Amino acid sequence: MANAWFESVAEAQRQAKKRLPSSVYSALLAGSEKGVSYADNTNAFSELGLAPHVAGLHAERDLATTFMGQPIAFPVVTSPTGVQAVHPDGELAIARATAARGTAMGLGSFGSKALEDVVALNPATFFQMYWMGTRDSMVTRIEQARSAGAKGLILTLDWSFTYGRDWGSPVIPEKVNAKTMVQFAPQVLRRPRWLMTYARSGGIPDLTTPNLADSAGVAPTFFGAYYEWMQTPPATWEDLAWLRQQWDGPFMLKGVCRIDDARRTVDAGFSALSVSNHGGNNIDSTPAPIRVLPSIVEAVGGQVEVVMDGGIRRGSDVVKALALGARSVLIGRAYLWALAANGQAGVENVLDLLRNGIDSTLYGLGHSSIRTLSPEDVVMPSGFTRTLGVPLAST
Ligand SMILES: Cc1cc2nc3c(=O)[nH]c(=O)nc-3n(C[C@H](O)[C@H](O)[C@H](O)COP(=O)(O)O)c2cc1C
Repeated sequence: MANAWFESVAEAQRQAKKRLPSSVYSALLAGSEKGVSYADNTNAFSELGLAPHVAGLHAERDLATTFMGQPIAFPVVTSPTGVQAVHPDGELAIARATAARGTAMGLGSFGSKALEDVVALNPATFFQMYWMGTRDSMVTRIEQARSAGAKGLILTLDWSFTYGRDWGSPVIPEKVNAKTMVQFAPQVLRRPRWLMTYARSGGIPDLTTPNLADSAGVAPTFFGAYYEWMQTPPATWEDLAWLRQQWDGPFMLKGVCRIDDARRTVDAGFSALSVSNHGGNNIDSTPAPIRVLPSIVEAVGGQVEVVMDGGIRRGSDVVKALALGARSVLIGRAYLWALAANGQAGVENVLDLLRNGIDSTLYGLGHSSIRTLSPEDVVMPSGFTRTLGVPLAST
């Protein structure tokens, strides 16, 4: 039955595939080059075992924690993504769903809805930036985030402009207009329900980026913004320390995999970091974040809030990440597939699946709280972890 509750992220993915035009589905799947990192992100979780108890279990479990200073009901936050055209409500549906389930969300710079509209629906919203444009334009963006009410910032740096995927890259138009509608008609007409969702909302997908509008309020197209990003000279650690000083609240650096970068993230003054390989979209063959998490927690866990993202598909994955030292996790595709499958209700569905999965895993492991999880809860095969980079002394 269409739009029914789904019982796994895998089912949300199947429904998204059936519902979306092939280019939109392919953009959601993403992954770079051969997909080695994309595959490792999920496969690595399957290599980790869990060791359940049978007695002395707890009738009630406490899943609550905080994310960058905001209380959240369970340790899962929706990661910022820059995907338009998945659902007409886009990030507004995600904001309603995350607020309804008591958690926080990240809004991508390349997202399709204005930050203030998202914050109005979920005050626990974090705005994601890239190192793009001039220092002045970055300061303007930070001021806009402050006045829109963002609770903190996320700077994403793990993107290397790789191209060439073995399973082909989706063709995405610069603008959706009459000409591109004709060009995309064959694949769109095969997905009438997707088209109807947009028709009912009174429009066609808008490929502009409202949160990157210039001082005159003109928002660039997705590709216009992408071009500006590509042209921006890469950041140095001094640049990052400068950027951090422009915001006086919580500030996360997303995309760290090496222990030397983790050390420098702390030295640059960031309050949080996400161990990530951009969901397998950075240079291919970057190891799964869950493999490098323990070394980063060991290096800087006492000084900065460490979260991780990449490959989370079920509650037990979240428990494994927490047992290895993450404070919480971010999810990407799991909620994007759910959004495509069933809008706000789909995102709520996936958040419920993860929360229930965390709860039942905690139950089986004999914990009354996520706070008591430790590496002893995880059965780790030898050679599982990776340590990237060299240890650096704190400055
Ligand atoms: C289609 C897609 C678009 C993404 N866009 C962004 C983005 O705009 N900004 C960002 O910081 N991360 C972006 N990411 C990365 C996610 O925030 C997150 O790191 C990743 O999806 C986690 O892996 P998972 O999908 O396996 O959960 C994107 C990921 C995907 C799959």
